[in-house]
Amino acid sequence: MMLNRQVDLNQLLELLSGVLDEFGGLMVVDKKGCIIYTSAKFSEYFFGLGFWEARGQRVEDLLPDSGWDQVLANGLPCTGMVWNVNDQELLASWLPIIINGRLQAAVAVVGMLVFHNIEEFIALAREISGDRGKLDYYREEVKRLWGAKYSFDSIIGNSLAIVEAKRHAWDIAATRSPVLITGETGTGKELFAHAIHQDSPHREGPFIVLNCAGIPDSLVESELFGYEAGAFTGASRNGKPGKFELANNGSIFLDEISELPLNTQAKLLRVLQEREVQRIGGSSSLKINARVISATNMDIEEMVKKGLFREDLFYRINVFSVKVPALRERLEDIPVLSEDFIKGFNVEAGTRISGLSKEALCLMMKYEWPGNVRELKSTIERACLDARMGLIKPENLYYIRDRMKNKSANHESRTLTLKEAVMNTERQLIIETLQKTGGNKKKACELLDINRTSFYKRLKTLDIDY
Ligand SMILES: Nc1ncnc2c1ncn2[C@@H]1O[C@H](COP(=O)(O)OP(=O)(O)OP(=O)(O)O)[C@@H](O)[C@H]1O
Ligand SMILES: [Mg+2]
Repeated sequence: MMLNRQVDLNQLLELLSGVLDEFGGLMVVDKKGCIIYTSAKFSEYFFGLGFWEARGQRVEDLLPDSGWDQVLANGLPCTGMVWNVNDQELLASWLPIIINGRLQAAVAVVGMLVFHNIEEFIALAREISGDRGKLDYYREEVKRLWGAKYSFDSIIGNSLAIVEAKRHAWDIAATRSPVLITGETGTGKELFAHAIHQDSPHREGPFIVLNCAGIPDSLVESELFGYEAGAFTGASRNGKPGKFELANNGSIFLDEISELPLNTQAKLLRVLQEREVQRIGGSSSLKINARVISATNMDIEEMVKKGLFREDLFYRINVFSVKVPALRERLEDIPVLSEDFIKGFNVEAGTRISGLSKEALCLMMKYEWPGNVRELKSTIERACLDARMGLIKPENLYYIRDRMKNKSANHESRTLTLKEAVMNTERQLIIETLQKTGGNKKKACELLDINRTSFYKRLKTLDIDY
């Protein structure tokens, strides 16, 4: 949740509580996890406390394992969680509140579409049906909180390579077909996934993310498909919806899909073919209408060849594909990207960097960027911290200078094996002899005292084309 300077935290809380108290509730915690605000409904219903009583308490004491620490640690939203409160299952999300570039607090939005009883539902329905404008306003707010964070405008770059990738992705976004986003690490695949959802017919629905590499094999299926109460030991008493269920009418983003275990791949294929999902331990199926966006930085076609990824699943998820180009293929984007990162970092860290010096830019253009835009971003941040103000100079780019030095040192100092050294000498001797004889191979054989058959074999092995 990025806010501009004019909005302060109190205004924001007022705005949010007005909207969300109607749907469920919200709570805000500070950076240490202490409650600084709850909507009236939230504290009464969840904690049985008035707002003033809940204020200042540690959220961990009132609601253990709610996930607040994660959002404050990494500054990223944590959506689609299920909290069990008062024997009820509620959909919850933690969203970071970033003001003036700094993470200041986190807000929990809970049970927006859950009503506690039918009277409440009717009362709300009456209220909003009489006021169309208010309904649209709520819808917009809900979308803003649950939807994708980035649009195509967030993907910076003017190079032909990135502009074409964006245009292609934009065309694809308009369809409902599965998309596979490929590209090296740090190229911006996640940004593309968000942007595709934002511009798709599913944009009004939720954008649900599952990082297939981030969860142990044993949990991946319950994350994807959910489970019924008592499906296995350790399962929550109330069961849990899977990411597919949560993504209904929206998009599901399967990040690092190459990491899915083979047996889960088979189950995923079935869900995609039948467009319905059954919770683990459940007996009924639920129709699912979710757009599938996947991403990988692996060569998934090679994995298919090696039998590590199912071919049939590959074709299902890869109806369309978008390849995000590596940064070294679009070095001309470095100035615009750097400018944006510098601006952001100045706000976040209070530095006063005005830009890159010519020499610094020159150095950056010579580097290979194996970590792509992510590496560029962190290089800029380090350089900003190092320089503090004015222009970034080559000496502030110590990180890439070190890496470039190591690379050339590795290149020069590698010791040849005995075999390589012998082959090099042999090669050189044969070429020199052939030069002496003007290309006459018979004479060269005599000079080298070697028979013709072995001579031709040596030419082939040493790749001498004379
Ligand atoms: N074109 C771009 N414009 C602005 N920021 C970008 C761009 N591309 C990438 N970034 C930034 O670079 C970082 C890495 O991007 P992202 O996480 O989308 O990469 P990825 O391809 O998903 O990497 P990985 O394969 O390692 O998961 C993020 O901070 C993202 O905001
Ligand atoms: Mg990623």
